[in-house]
Amino acid sequence: MPGLKVFTGSAHPALAQAICDALGLPLGRSTTRRFSNENLKVKIEENVREEDVFVVQPSCPPVSEGLVELLIMLDALKSASARRVTAVLPYYPYARSDKKDEPRISITARLVADLLEAAGADRVLTMDLHSPQIQGFFRIPSDQLTAVPLLCNHLRTLGLREAVVVAADVGEAKDAGRFAKRLDLPLAIVDKRRSGDDERARVAHLVGDVAGRDCIIVDDEIATGGTLFEATDFLLGAGARSVQAAIVHPVLSGPATARLRGSPLVRLTVTDTIPIPPEKQDPKIDVLSVAPVLAQAITRIHDGASLSDLFH
Ligand code: R5P
Repeated sequence: MPGLKVFTGSAHPALAQAICDALGLPLGRSTTRRFSNENLKVKIEENVREEDVFVVQPSCPPVSEGLVELLIMLDALKSASARRVTAVLPYYPYARSDKKDEPRISITARLVADLLEAAGADRVLTMDLHSPQIQGFFRIPSDQLTAVPLLCNHLRTLGLREAVVVAADVGEAKDAGRFAKRLDLPLAIVDKRRSGDDERARVAHLVGDVAGRDCIIVDDEIATGGTLFEATDFLLGAGARSVQAAIVHPVLSGPATARLRGSPLVRLTVTDTIPIPPEKQDPKIDVLSVAPVLAQAITRIHDGASLSDLFH
């Protein structure tokens, strides 16, 4: 594809390579060095003058270092006269800091948007944002793709009978409704309450009927797993026959994997927006690749074609 180049930061080279394989392109060459004083230096190792460049860098540990590496890459590409640079963030950094729900705090997801723009991003391509308002934090064009069709197509192959889609919290009810509609299944909602900033969620009520049914909990991300595993136990207590989950971003922070291993949850289907390090992998986890949909979006952005059917 003439004039198109894809580069990766250190966060998820395997995803960037899979995108390039789908596009039939070699991965752009760049190097990142970390000095003894922890400063980073990025060098773009090939000519990018007048090229349409995409940089793949989802947010994953070390989160803040990955963000800084991305900012340095964007700056280096602009200085090297790339015609247009798109930051590809399959999992958006600081996505949960998207509102001012306490005094004297930063809306850091908006700050990240400002930083990307200041570093030279001309556009942003992302997936399943934690909340829709994040898209409005940008003054440059931003496209939000969704992995819901990918997850639904996979769930359909599992031959679900008497299943019910369950929103893991009230905030997820709208997205869960999209799963339920696509799969032609009923919807139930778990009413989860989080007290303060302690990352601990507690289930309060259930709206809908789960008794004797196979439950599919859906959510945008699994972090510590508190939401998912509390909901799993609660649903089984309410008479569900089995519980599995379909979740876009496998953050799997802190105790998540240990909790998964000890949980009656039968299966966790996620995508590869974030890499899962070997110590966090588990036979209960199925990983679907978002590389084909990202490659399709990159092709359409490059060609100036519509992306709208990839948003739904
Ligand atoms: C919350 O609003 C999100 O949709 C997820 O439910 C949440 O981020 C998951 O966090 P954890 O796994 O730590 O409960």
